[in-house]
Amino acid sequence: MDFTFTEEQLAVKEAARDFAQNVLKPGVIERDKNATFPVEEMKQLGELGFLGMMVDPKYGGGGMDTVSYVLAMEEISKIDASAAVCMSVCNSLYCWGLERFGSEDIKERFLAPVAQGQHIGAFCLSEPEAGSDATSQRTTAEDKGDYYLLNGTKNWITNGSSASFYIVMCQTDKEKGHRGINAIIVEKGMEGFIVGEKEDKMGIRGSDTHTLIFNDVKVPKANRIGEEGFGFKFAMQVLGGGRIGIASQALGIASGALDLAVAYSKERQTFGKEIHKHQAIGFKLADMATQVEAARLMCLQAASKKDQGEDFAQEASMAKLYASEIAQFVTTEAVQIHGGYGYVREYHVERLMRDAKITQIYEGTSEIQKIVISRGILKD
Ligand code: CAA
Repeated sequence: MDFTFTEEQLAVKEAARDFAQNVLKPGVIERDKNATFPVEEMKQLGELGFLGMMVDPKYGGGGMDTVSYVLAMEEISKIDASAAVCMSVCNSLYCWGLERFGSEDIKERFLAPVAQGQHIGAFCLSEPEAGSDATSQRTTAEDKGDYYLLNGTKNWITNGSSASFYIVMCQTDKEKGHRGINAIIVEKGMEGFIVGEKEDKMGIRGSDTHTLIFNDVKVPKANRIGEEGFGFKFAMQVLGGGRIGIASQALGIASGALDLAVAYSKERQTFGKEIHKHQAIGFKLADMATQVEAARLMCLQAASKKDQGEDFAQEASMAKLYASEIAQFVTTEAVQIHGGYGYVREYHVERLMRDAKITQIYEGTSEIQKIVISRGILKD
């Protein structure tokens, strides 16, 4: 596969890198420390078109391909993985799903404002007892004619308090199992919708992860995505694209840690020479760089298949599985190379190590990716 980038793709990468270095980097340590969402920074990122990168320009999106999205996600995640997850949810789990499966009315009301960077979207699948086992939705949407009556609780929702619009998976007909699940859009401010507790997380502390509570929320039927009962398949397809985003986030975290380790190894001297001249360090850097490059190629391959309209679920899961695994190794090695400095908060590298862990958990754990991959290779 030829990954010679077009001028447009390189310009997107460059713009994302500039934004990450100049806008996100200055406050990232402080935001991590105080668990503060980058409100102003996300507004600017939205204005630059990074929240609806792949959306058709007729809805205000950037009309870019998934390869450009991978390039941008890597650059943003190198510096601020919290901003990156917000960006990934908006692009992949929110905009892509609405553009592909939403009615024209839904696209105008709920896709365009996020694609244009004026609002943030959220994707609400996980529940206290339905994380990996996504068909076991307990949130109910009772059919009341021209609206659904929504009741239940969602957990660990990215953009939980900063979003304006929430795609909520809910069970309408329990008898039908996953075919009774709907995906409906809830707006912030609807009566009975409460943004609950914020999670105090180990990593990606700048992202706002909340519990959401729905008490008799009346959601118009016009807010349903696709046909009645399409919600589970909607969620599965959207998560396929989302996994490219999270794979790219893991890639960015790993490549950011590698950059820091390389730079530090040229500055730091021990036993009379720069530490990269010790083979123990040089070999570590070689392993890290090889893994980062392999993860990058896997992300690009999955993205390229998606851009060509081919089935990409398998490649997306493989990229997410691999990139999130190597992000653990690479960030841990980067801390090791930094020695004692790597363990303190004023150096970026310890944050990257904490941020890396979530990439093995959300949008399907590593074990879920292995289920998807093994089913794919074993099917007739
Ligand atoms: N596209 C279309 N349809 C699909 C599909 C896909 N990619 N994957 C499954 N389906 C369909 C199946 O064909 C099947 O339909 P039929 O019965 O009509 O044939 C139906 O969906 C049920 O599929 P399975 O029997 O395979 O379902 P399962 O219960 O065995 O679960 C699973 C499959 C892969 C484990 C799935 O439950 C899963 O992906 N779980 C993880 C969910 C997840 O990623 N959660 C993370 C939450 S989001 C998040 O983290 C966001 C964030 O904050 C960043």
